[in-house]
Parts: sequence; structure tokens; C-alpha cells
Amino acid sequence: MIRIGVLVSGSGSNLQSIMDACDRGDIDGEVAVVISNVAGAYALKRAENNSIPTKIFLHQEYPDRQSFDSRIAQTLEEYKVDLVALAGFMRVLTPEFLDRFPHRVINIHPALLPAFPGLGVRQKAIDHGVRFSGCTVHFVDSGVDTGPIIIQAVVPVYPDDTEEELKDRIIALEHQIYPRAIQLFAQGALEIAGRKVFVRNLVKDASLCLVNPPLDS
Ligand code: GAR
Repeated sequence: MIRIGVLVSGSGSNLQSIMDACDRGDIDGEVAVVISNVAGAYALKRAENNSIPTKIFLHQEYPDRQSFDSRIAQTLEEYKVDLVALAGFMRVLTPEFLDRFPHRVINIHPALLPAFPGLGVRQKAIDHGVRFSGCTVHFVDSGVDTGPIIIQAVVPVYPDDTEEELKDRIIALEHQIYPRAIQLFAQGALEIAGRKVFVRNLVKDASLCLVNPPLDS
């Protein structure tokens, strides 16, 4: 059973999917603490509803990024977490923070990395005219959304999509792949080799293929 610390800033729907997967036994672990940098984040309410301890650290109250990150790291250590999961946490973590949890910080991002890192990425995908986007769970390194990729899911994008429509399509898959990535971590099934993450006993399907717009049948 791994202990998971979840960092949030917003609504916490991914946090909910992680807590639910733990409750169902789909993750061999438990959420030990939820930390928010936003006082009114709905994610905090979700954690409280699941009787999970919460902490709020407002980045505005710290003189620099190092001291803010150090306070969070200290709390995660106090709760003896094995894994730090960023779930809509809208802050970039310092290398000093990452050094305290080597290969143990993961993030979910609403695009198919390395395409569209950063913010506002669903609208950017629509505006670029791509035919597919999706979501990515990756290990966090010192760059912005650049770390080794664990799992991705793909959805179609249509030129007349609204950002909300694409968001709904993507987040439904986020709620499936984030718990899956965490369970793979919990099982010790992930091995990082440079940029690559090898998954033990991976079932390969080389015929897997998506085309949008579809080919003539
Ligand atoms: C999710 O879509 C997540 O992928 C995104 O924020 C949303 C949080 O939703 N994260 C990022 O954009 C990180 N750069 P949630 O609070 O309902 O889980």
C-alpha cells in the first residue's frame, strides 16, 4: 500500500478519481494528505468528504519559491508519502523540491505531450487545427511538462469544438489514466530509462490505430 500526497489548486475531479480508485481497490494505496495553494479550492471539500487531511499553503505568503516548496515538501515528508501526485496544481516545482522526491512526483496534463505544454492548451489544440489531442501522465522533471511519459490517452478534436466540449472529452479519460498510472507505480511496474518509461508486462497491440476524419470503409 503506497501513501499518496496529492497537490491541488482547483476543482479536484482528478483527486476524486484517485480517491475513488483507492476505495475500490483499483489502486493499492491511499491518499495520505491533500495540499492546496488556493484557499477555496473545491478539491479541499472533496478531501474532507473522504476524511482525508488537508493543508493550505498560500504561495503569496512565502518570500520565494524555494521556501514555499520547502514547506510543502516538509509536510509531505511528515505524512510519509511514497508518491506525490499533482492534480491540477498550477505551480511549477523547484529542482530542490524534486530532489527530495526523486522519480516520485507525477503530473497529469490535458494534452498529448510534448505537444502543447503549459497553460490554455485545449484552446491551443483547437486553434492549431490538430485532429487529435488527449491527456498525459508523466514524471515531473525541472522543465514545464517535459518529464518522462507514463501513459497517454487520445481523443478526436473537431475544428468547431468549443474549449468546454474538448475539456469534457479529455477529462473523462484523465479520470481513467491517472488512477491507472498510480497503480502501475504502486505495483513497481514502472522503470525509467532516460526519457523512456518501461512498463512491466506491457500488453502490446501494434494494430492500434485512430484516423480522423475516418478512412472510407
Ligand atoms: C485537469 O484537466 C488537469 O489535466 C489540468 O488541470 C485540470 C484540473 O482539473 N492540469 C494542468 O493543466 C496542469 N498544467 P481537476 O482539478 O478537476 O482535477
